[in-house]
Amino acid sequence: MLADLDRPAAVSADPAFRRDVLAGLAMRPQRAIPARWFYDRAGSELFEKITDLPEYYPTRTETALLADHAGAVAGLVGPGRAVVEFGSGSSVKTPHVLRAVAPAAYVPIDISGDFLRDSSALLAADFPALRILPVEADFTQPLRLPAEIAAMPKLGFFPGSTIGNMVAHTAIDLLRAMAETLGEGAMLLIGMDRVKSPDILVPAYDDAAGVTAAFNLNLLHRINRELEGDVPVDAFRHRAIWNDGEARIEMHLETMRDVAFDVCGERFGIAAGETIHTENSHKYGARDARLLLRAGAWTPIEEWTDAEGRFALILAEARTPATAP
Ligand code: AVI
Repeated sequence: MLADLDRPAAVSADPAFRRDVLAGLAMRPQRAIPARWFYDRAGSELFEKITDLPEYYPTRTETALLADHAGAVAGLVGPGRAVVEFGSGSSVKTPHVLRAVAPAAYVPIDISGDFLRDSSALLAADFPALRILPVEADFTQPLRLPAEIAAMPKLGFFPGSTIGNMVAHTAIDLLRAMAETLGEGAMLLIGMDRVKSPDILVPAYDDAAGVTAAFNLNLLHRINRELEGDVPVDAFRHRAIWNDGEARIEMHLETMRDVAFDVCGERFGIAAGETIHTENSHKYGARDARLLLRAGAWTPIEEWTDAEGRFALILAEARTPATAP
């Protein structure tokens, strides 16, 4: 029944989504679908709700850090840069940065064109004199910045601890690609969530209101909507697990009974208690964070954290450190 409601008359599926889902559902020993597929329109809206949840501390902690330290960031960064935001989403944290650093242009990059257009229009109303040049793209893939900002020094802005959603080697590749994209003299302002007690971490990813559960389960609805699926969504439940060895929260979709379903004409069977791994959210200690940045071709120059040390905002520059001795 649910599957019928899920399925609109005709939807053109993204071939990469199709490929990742079919490969991920067949993967052994652990089935896994990349977290980037959470963010269709419904998923992006659910994520915005997550950021307001009482249990989900990262957004409000980082926003407060930006509000408190934007002046210090501006002092180190200087005026006249093009601010390039990777994965801008609804751009709620951006005004703090834009107001403080007096940029020459703002380039929001996001995979969701709808979100990009809405948030750019809102920002344009608040910053009428600012040149806003949105780029609809997946920032994890190589991309070209608008020609208009070619000659400007850049400030990359990568908030939200999105870097934590990547395993270390992918995170390092991305940081290096950002340094390459932003070019000579670039700086990067990045938010990174810190390691802390699972008593705080697990509820942040398994809230009492069930919003994160809906966000995770929306992936199955999306499969049904876009990939001719009949996944029995009600047979799955959301799980958030702290993996201490890997220093990460893992999100999974666990079957509560044996299930069989079709996706794009392929048949899958999953036994009760098995999971589909849908997201990693890595947390970084202070030294780990700096090491990751250095490995990614960025030299940290300043960092700010909240009183409880939950979240860190780090400013880095694209400078190759001396290798001596
Ligand atoms: C986007 N990203 C940084 C979020 C996080 O905290 O890892 C995604 C998220 N997943 C569940 N809640 C939030």
